[in-house]
Amino acid sequence: MNVLVLGSGGREHALVWKLAQSARISRMWVAPGNAGTALERLAGSGASVENVPVGADQLDALLEFARTHRPDLTVVGPDNPLALGVVDRFQAAGFRIWGPNQRAAQFETSKAFSQDFMERHGIPTARSGTFTDPAEAKRYCASLGGRCAVKADGLALGKGVLLAKSVAEAERAVDEILVDKAFGQAGAKLVIQELMEGMEISLHAICDGRTAKLFPTSQDHKRSHDGDTGLNTGGMGTYSPAPFLTDAELDQVGDKILRPWLAGCAADGIDFRGLLYPGVMLTAAGPRVIEFNARFGDPETQVYLPRLENDLLDLLEASVDGTLDRVTLRWSREACVCVVAAAAGYPGPVTKGQVITGIDAANALPGVKVFHAGTALKDGNIVTNGGRVLGVTAMGADIAMARTRAYEALSKVHFDGMHFRRDIGSKALAACG
Ligand code: AMP
Ligand code: GLY
Repeated sequence: MNVLVLGSGGREHALVWKLAQSARISRMWVAPGNAGTALERLAGSGASVENVPVGADQLDALLEFARTHRPDLTVVGPDNPLALGVVDRFQAAGFRIWGPNQRAAQFETSKAFSQDFMERHGIPTARSGTFTDPAEAKRYCASLGGRCAVKADGLALGKGVLLAKSVAEAERAVDEILVDKAFGQAGAKLVIQELMEGMEISLHAICDGRTAKLFPTSQDHKRSHDGDTGLNTGGMGTYSPAPFLTDAELDQVGDKILRPWLAGCAADGIDFRGLLYPGVMLTAAGPRVIEFNARFGDPETQVYLPRLENDLLDLLEASVDGTLDRVTLRWSREACVCVVAAAAGYPGPVTKGQVITGIDAANALPGVKVFHAGTALKDGNIVTNGGRVLGVTAMGADIAMARTRAYEALSKVHFDGMHFRRDIGSKALAACG
């Protein structure tokens, strides 16, 4: 079978690496991929994975590629092509593609859509309001005592959320998004949520329109620096499992969110085939959904897929075909930790093209896999090509061992300006005493 994967980040390298283990795949392309995806080989045919120089959001060029090369399945990594309707376009042209269609992807592309859906279908979330008028928005912030999350409605590269703890901060946030248009059209509408307190975890569920299968827990580290300080980023590291819930508690949390979500999708005629990724706050009053994403998390994928024992192609096909009820997810009991190595300046602008050394030495350590996030090949070298550069990932008997291995692997890797958090997984270690 021939598979086309869309995207170029660490999530996509992890997807490609896991799919490459499927004996049924004889050819795989990645558009556009990175230096890491091009180094993967297919277990089934021994062939190399092929990078294709087409951006994941260049829909016309992707369709032209598909018409020429006839992939049997296309797998969408990032949110942008989903927002642009890549699934609808591919399906209309007769191609099989994994990911939610444009309507279903609204769970991620519109926070106002998600918030309205959650309220109508009884999914636990923050108290919230949706606004286009700054004065009304500010009145609502004041009614929350200024303690709120002010969110641009649309996609804003993970940056459209401002947290406020006073009325003055909240008013500044409203002005920034609604008046100064700091996030462009994404901020034409605002969702304001009460500020929630508690432990934040990531949930993932693979869905086929009728059935949702919950993954184990994981936790991301969104701030750029240790101790959750610094700017919000796409994610500086992850680990799985997150030991704040027992398996039984996780099932209950999943049930509180996924059961009404599935019922709501059925009632509203939304056919969600893809990955639902709720960000969840474990508050004193119970779990609350912070937001929904409609794709795999990055870097959550880098810790989930090494733990996944199923063939990923089987899962994605069951998700497309509506047969997930027949699938049992199987997970390694080992833990997994991923530490992101970022370029100087990230999450702001970065310089590209720094030579990276030590990846092979890191990969040679037990349990270690270095996923490439922002890398390219240049003159025979692997060079930096983005803000998040590598996801250095390790499996181990528990979080402590996986973490020791990941940091040891990271110590082998070098590029000018490399920075990373030194506290990935420390909340898990604290919880385990
Ligand atoms: P989002 O993009 O909606 O996930 O928001 C980005 C980050 O802001 C989340 O990962 C949380 O850490 C934080 N956040 C968002 N909404 C809230 C909220 N209502 N209460 C507390 N923290 C929040
Ligand atoms: N882990 C953050 C994200 O994928 O949005």
